[in-house]
Amino acid sequence: MTKKDSSRSIRPLGAQDAEALFAFYQALSDDVVYFYRPFREVTTSVIREHLKQADEGDVYALGLGAEDGRVMGHAFLNGLRGGSPSFGIGLHQSILDRGWGSRLTAAVVQHADELAIARVELSVMKENTRAQAVYRKFGFSVCGETSFRGENDSWVMERRSTRTYTDVKESEP
Ligand SMILES: CC(C)(COP(=O)(O)OP(=O)(O)OC[C@H]1O[C@@H](n2cnc3c(N)ncnc32)[C@H](O)[C@@H]1OP(=O)(O)O)[C@@H](O)C(=O)NCCC(=O)NCCS
Repeated sequence: MTKKDSSRSIRPLGAQDAEALFAFYQALSDDVVYFYRPFREVTTSVIREHLKQADEGDVYALGLGAEDGRVMGHAFLNGLRGGSPSFGIGLHQSILDRGWGSRLTAAVVQHADELAIARVELSVMKENTRAQAVYRKFGFSVCGETSFRGENDSWVMERRSTRTYTDVKESEP
């Protein structure tokens, strides 16, 4: 399967994408949801609130868009205004293993570095070795354990940036 597909593109999401993002979550298979459940419950108001926070700058939300307007993937940093943002990512089951998760992760990590975020955290089920392979590729490493569906069934991973706020200011034109 080719990793190139020009019919999809990565773009920031905002309030105008609420319907498409809700439809994305409604369309996820049980296998994807088993690993990926970023919201306790997916309702239109939960999705709207997430995108409102994106518009307000507390969340960085990216979507993988298809030509027909559907959202096929979602990656985000939550809690940008708090101490330590958390990262989440999920793709539609029809496009796994084609490099889109890596591309979305690269874009989120780049954004975190541009903001000189010192530490980004995530949790991932221990059995989700594919996701862990992607996270390690972008500098995440295990720093603890946590519970998701069962006791201590997940790793906490973190990525520490070596880029400081001063570096960012100095690189500005
Ligand atoms: C996790 C996820 C975002 C990764 O995105 P993706 O597009 O499928 O992954 P990519 O194709 O970018 O990369 C997968 C990498 O893992 C490797 N890989 C694939 N299956 C693997 C497995 N079972 N064990 C270890 N590595 C695996 C691939 O070889 C590839 O590595 P490479 O880029 O060095 O060749 C996506 O699979 C997904 O949404 N899964 C379901 C939901 C989910 O698990 N979300 C994360 C919750 S923490």
